[in-house]
Amino acid sequence: MPSSRRGSGSVTLPTGQVLAIHTRTQDEEDLPHATKKTMADHLRKYESLFTLTPQRMRMIVEAFKDTLEAGLEKPKQTVPMIPTFVFGWPTGKETGDFLAVDLGGTNLRVCLVTLQGDGKFEITQSKYRLTEEQKQEDGQKLFDFCAECLKTFITTNLEEGTVKEGELLPLGFTFSYPCEQDKIDHGRLIRWTKGFGAPNTEGHDVADMFRASLKKHNVPAELTALINDTTGTLIASAYVNPATKIAVIFGTGCNAAYMERVGDIPKIKNLGIDDQADMAINCEWGAFDSFEHEHLPRTKYDQIIDEKSNKPGEQAFEKLISGRYLGEILRLVICELIDEGVLFLGQETYKIEIPYALDTAFLSLMESDPTEELLMIIGIFTHFFALETTLAERQFFRALAKHVGRRAARLSACGIAAIVSKMGYLEEGCAVGADGSLYNKYPGFADRVHEGLQDIFGDKGRNIVTYHAEDGSGVGSAIIAGMTKIRKEKGLYLNC
Ligand code: BGC
Repeated sequence: MPSSRRGSGSVTLPTGQVLAIHTRTQDEEDLPHATKKTMADHLRKYESLFTLTPQRMRMIVEAFKDTLEAGLEKPKQTVPMIPTFVFGWPTGKETGDFLAVDLGGTNLRVCLVTLQGDGKFEITQSKYRLTEEQKQEDGQKLFDFCAECLKTFITTNLEEGTVKEGELLPLGFTFSYPCEQDKIDHGRLIRWTKGFGAPNTEGHDVADMFRASLKKHNVPAELTALINDTTGTLIASAYVNPATKIAVIFGTGCNAAYMERVGDIPKIKNLGIDDQADMAINCEWGAFDSFEHEHLPRTKYDQIIDEKSNKPGEQAFEKLISGRYLGEILRLVICELIDEGVLFLGQETYKIEIPYALDTAFLSLMESDPTEELLMIIGIFTHFFALETTLAERQFFRALAKHVGRRAARLSACGIAAIVSKMGYLEEGCAVGADGSLYNKYPGFADRVHEGLQDIFGDKGRNIVTYHAEDGSGVGSAIIAGMTKIRKEKGLYLNC
């Protein structure tokens, strides 16, 4: 009988959660594990599947650029290039108290933002985790929940007298899903993304739906701007760093916004807005290559994710990149190797066979495991999936996580490069405000995006630098509400 070494300890995850590890490192004859060589052979195969060459990246950038142009040209394109009616950059002089409600992919956040001018602000906020049920129940119910949370927030955080009798506080609503807009305070939901499916919402004006909930719950707030998180990020980042030209979100979903000259948005020519005016565009680039699937390197794992999703065919770019899907890509590869009899022979694998059981946060932990024995990976597999691993297997998982994460970052670089190249920002360079869990928490993600930009543009790629953006959904939303107030007071584009 081979001896077995036992040990226990714990690892603290970046989230603060503590993983208890009870390690039983069995000799390899005990359970039939794959050999080091087998794992290395498999790794080579996956490496070639998930690797993007610079040449392929440049092809993607070209197709991406054409798609962005097409979206500006005509309405109802796959990548809708949504005019946001956010006119130009903030001056930094916007001041006042604003409420912000941010309905994101994972949380609902409610904030009170005080803009103090000179790029300064103060923020008080509460966060509520959304349940999977809430994402699928009737849309109006979801907005009712947002209104109730806002009401509680106002009651607990605002000093008495802040809201005078009969007065309403201006509210920016950050709703991070594609909405067609013809005014800043209205928007029709084109489609849910990020796994949301709440019925009776697609095709409806979500600003009006939220207004109805605010009224029903007697909330002293007036929705003055409906905002996408990327647009908020663009404006908030420019408020503190005027070199910012583009904003990107790499989180549960992915998307970008930038500032366009109105004269270069042919589809809104009929609105009679000055050609020289600037307007932020919410690209909704997560939809790039949807339905047709002509340009992106989709593997069979990506196809499975797509087919089994609640929105097959849609958000093709997002499904290769965003935090909602990366863990699942890795899990599907692992399940394939279980089916082929390579991994976990003789072990009970049902826990890891549950769809979406492997969170993207695990992927980043696997990649960054600093210990020689890869203790973090041992912890993840024993604690969450009751599976024993050998060192060779753990090294394989870490390398695989790296390939999946690297592909996501390089594809993200393609999207940024398409905007840079379309707008001619390469020579003078520009700052890209970036936010989202993947960008902020995935080790090396930003470095890989930068490396990708250099692979696409050569040395000049160094001129494009991403940095951790200012909070767009809270602060950005408040600044936009402030900018809109000033614009309307000046009597500019009152119908927008
Ligand atoms: C949504 C975008 C959003 C992005 C990042 C995507 O799924 O369609 O509106 O900006 O996620 O949150």
